[in-house]
Amino acid sequence: MKDLLRRGLEGLIPYEPGRPISVVEKELGIEEAIKLASNESPYQPFPQVTGAMQKAVFEVNRYPDGGCTFLREKLADRLGVTPSMIMVGSGSNELLRLLANVLLNPEDEAVMANPSFIVYPTVVKLMNAKAVEVPLKGYHHDLDAMAGAINERTKMVFICNPNNPTGTMMTRGEVEAFLAKIPTDVVVVLDEAYFELVRDNNYPNGMDYIAGERPVVVFRTFSKVYGLAGCRIGYGIAPEFIIQAINKVREPFNVNTIAQVGAFVSLDCIAEVEERSLLNDEGLTYLYKEFARLSLDYVPSHANFVLLDVGVDGRALSNELMKRGVIVRSGDIFGYPQHLRVSVGTPGENARFISELENVL
Ligand SMILES: Cc1ncc(COP(=O)(O)O)c(C=O)c1O
Repeated sequence: MKDLLRRGLEGLIPYEPGRPISVVEKELGIEEAIKLASNESPYQPFPQVTGAMQKAVFEVNRYPDGGCTFLREKLADRLGVTPSMIMVGSGSNELLRLLANVLLNPEDEAVMANPSFIVYPTVVKLMNAKAVEVPLKGYHHDLDAMAGAINERTKMVFICNPNNPTGTMMTRGEVEAFLAKIPTDVVVVLDEAYFELVRDNNYPNGMDYIAGERPVVVFRTFSKVYGLAGCRIGYGIAPEFIIQAINKVREPFNVNTIAQVGAFVSLDCIAEVEERSLLNDEGLTYLYKEFARLSLDYVPSHANFVLLDVGVDGRALSNELMKRGVIVRSGDIFGYPQHLRVSVGTPGENARFISELENVL
């Protein structure tokens, strides 16, 4: 029989998502499991957001606004660009794939760190292009090596800042030195999914590079601090020619009505976002203190998760934790077999994780 599937899919492995709470509870016959595996917000969307989304439920007999008009206007206003430079997607995940769709020919290459966000190599390989993965150096992007990996076939380079799964951050100085060094005809993707959670003064704002001589694409999301992961909505800022190309290939109604309304109202919750960002920081501080007490090494994080060296098989340990109702991510999928990646939860969830970790270690 002829090969029905398209060439190039053989090398792709399906994304392994964090396991949903309800599924784990049913499978193990347990109750009140907690999920610290997908770097979501442990908190519900803000009350004014859920209120607006509830009202919007009654409008779903109509298709959504395919242009996300009001949300793009509000984002543009906030970010100091024109709406024509903004794209909105079903999560920034969708936008990463769309960007690869419009940039990559099979002979092209894309440079990225490894381990980094697992979606980057997937979207590149999906276009039958080459993903050039440059190992992290001490859990950080090795920007010198990444610059060295760029050649005349390189179309794009991904910078995940802070990096998932390590939580490490590149400073403004590091990013600017990198930009100064690489050719201007490479699209630089600055993935800032955890932007609102970073509290370091040296963290660069990708928007500062949007108006420069090179094409820069900044991605952000409503999935993290805003607590809208289940709605699937993220956005990107890019030169107009990229947005126009993406508009040709995206699904016409790619962002649902409820998500658009939720994101629109979320943008007004400035003080609430700051409060949650601080809470996340307190959660990290608590976890660090407990890790030190347990003599465990960890990678200091700028996001809402932390990579923890447990010194034993991470997969086995995460399975033990799961049986006790604590869902975390084993580091083996990232190439760290003796690590766990743990999202910051509520104070109660963090304490429960630590107590179960002590029980299973
Ligand atoms: C670095 C990074 N980029 C993008 C995303 C995708 O976010 P979403 O598709 O929910 O907007 C994530 C999610 O975990 C992430 O860690």
